[in-house]
Amino acid sequence: MKTLIKNAVCVLPEGAQKTNVLIDGGVIASVGAPDSTQADAVVDAEGLHLLPGAIDDQVHFREPGLTHKEDLHTGSLGCAKGGITTFLEMPNTIPNAINRERIAEKLALGAAKSVVNYGFYIGATPDNVEELAAAEGVPGIKIFIGSSTGDLLVDGQEALERIFAETTLPICAHCEDETTVRANAAKINGGHEYADHSKIRDHAAAIYATKRATNLSRKYKHRFHVLHVSAAGELPYIADHAGVVTAEVCPHHLFFNTDDYARLGSLVQMNPAVKTAEDNAAMWKALLDGTIQVVATDHAPHTLEEKQQPYPKSPSGLPAVENVMALMLNQVHLGLCTIDQVVHWMCDAPARVWDIVNKGRIVEGYDADLVLVDLNKKAMIRDSEQVTKCGWSPWHGVELTGWPVRTWVLGQEVFRDGQIDASIRGQAAQYDHARGGYWATA
Ligand code: DOR
Repeated sequence: MKTLIKNAVCVLPEGAQKTNVLIDGGVIASVGAPDSTQADAVVDAEGLHLLPGAIDDQVHFREPGLTHKEDLHTGSLGCAKGGITTFLEMPNTIPNAINRERIAEKLALGAAKSVVNYGFYIGATPDNVEELAAAEGVPGIKIFIGSSTGDLLVDGQEALERIFAETTLPICAHCEDETTVRANAAKINGGHEYADHSKIRDHAAAIYATKRATNLSRKYKHRFHVLHVSAAGELPYIADHAGVVTAEVCPHHLFFNTDDYARLGSLVQMNPAVKTAEDNAAMWKALLDGTIQVVATDHAPHTLEEKQQPYPKSPSGLPAVENVMALMLNQVHLGLCTIDQVVHWMCDAPARVWDIVNKGRIVEGYDADLVLVDLNKKAMIRDSEQVTKCGWSPWHGVELTGWPVRTWVLGQEVFRDGQIDASIRGQAAQYDHARGGYWATA
């Protein structure tokens, strides 16, 4: 099947330009194809922008074990709607994805259920370093240096040193210092209101854990990705290790801060906790100056009923895959960043961090994971229109300008003007030794 996308402004590695893109099978066959090119389908994308599909390097799709919150199918539908064509999913499912058998089970579930491409991190425990060292078909190792949803936690120095010393896959981590968090919680008897969450999971907890992990990365020359940076004080440690350390920021740490507890309560309770407006500004500055390379969601759904429990019973996390691209495109609309920067943060940079050799750019021969966006489309985020299972968004009622309108996964059109083709299936991570990376299309 050949599809010719005509007249879109295509965001190419060398910059945005109006040109035609020909998809043949699962790949981008031509950039700059003539108008007369024969194709089975022709899309006139006049007035729209064509971007590489986004790669979300941090989602929690809850399967197996917590599928009342989300599953690999519903989470992937949210991705398709949101212009995300590849997700990398976290290991804190039930059971935890901490060995090759569990990873194989998740890969089989992904193949059966996901409408976009998928990959699964292997989770670290204090004593599974042999499994981590032997893992294949996973993009990397996830360490919870601070505890979050679930029971994965590695905070002992000896265990952390072994993981950095004895494994070769890139490592990413949730950086909040467990000792600091516990001491802060004890000071206020565990906390009583949602805003206490930011007193417990404070700046010091994030900064200390990021400092500790980046030092390990330097000591063992081991590639390391700091997940969901939230505190300005983490940034110097990331900048100081440039080259071996990369970093990610999530929309909630760009757009929410402690002032939002009054309006949104537990809907903005997440780990790491939101910080201050000054930290929001520091996250934006770090993205713009390249200290932070990646924007990803940490999509972590819980039901509204679970979220509405009083603190500290209320669980941490919020959904974001279907809105993150619009949130970022709205920043383009406001003149606060460029569309090329959004493509870098959401498509190209995550591909490079995770050795995804043939995604994240509109280049001939790359996979045809593509999204058409309408930079002039104005629409409001509404709980009633969310396709992910939990059915709510902390951005409910927010109007944004700039939305994904069509999405292709490996050349298959999975989303068009509000409709998702739930029958489409994405592809798993396959390590391609010849190309030295993942997601090689056969
Ligand atoms: O708030 C969070 N919730 N942060 C995480 O890192 C994990 C997540 C979850 O799985 O619920």
